[in-house]
Amino acid sequence: MQVAVGAQTIFTPINLILFSLFLIILYLRLRPSKPAAATLPVAPPPTVFKTFTPPTLLPYNGTANQPVYLAVRGRVFDVTPGRNFYGPGGPYQNFAGRDASRGLACGSFDADMLTEDLGGPLDKLEDLGGEEMEALRGWEERFTEKYLVVGKLVPVGHPEAEEE
Ligand code: HEM
Repeated sequence: MQVAVGAQTIFTPINLILFSLFLIILYLRLRPSKPAAATLPVAPPPTVFKTFTPPTLLPYNGTANQPVYLAVRGRVFDVTPGRNFYGPGGPYQNFAGRDASRGLACGSFDADMLTEDLGGPLDKLEDLGGEEMEALRGWEERFTEKYLVVGKLVPVGHPEAEEE
């Protein structure tokens, strides 16, 4: 007898309304979201490994809406995600589009850190000491973790040099 009384009290109008609301909320939370295809990010363009010479690397200095590249010991890094560092007006803009090896090794922004003759041989860094080379390795490690290698740097006239 007591069970019947209990059942009568559960199905009151207010309880039915609350239960309906609960079902509506449950449906809204669990219903499938919009098709995933509409929200998928666009794939980045494939990275093409290229051979650069100092003159063909130069345009990638952050001007003219181009990506920003710099070279360290013959490897060309795409540092576009670090545009704030290397783009025009950035603290390290001097390295953009250039072989940054010597400047990074010596921790210097001096103009003579950059190879002046873009048509000449690459900087072999032979005069640098152990500490400087160690600093350079540190930068290379950081760049390798953070940026994509998009090519290599060879001197003008090198057999692998591509015409732009
Ligand atoms: C007054 C001295 C300096 C200060 C206060 C300074 C400060 C900084 C700071 C705060 C960052 C950002 C770090 C991050 O968010 O990842 C940075 C990055 C950097 N610094 Fe310096 N810096 C100094 C000197 C130098 C020198 C002498 C060089 C080399 C010539 C240098 C090369 C760089 C480079 C290449 C990056 C960017 C690395 C990347 O792309 O992630 N800095 N610096």
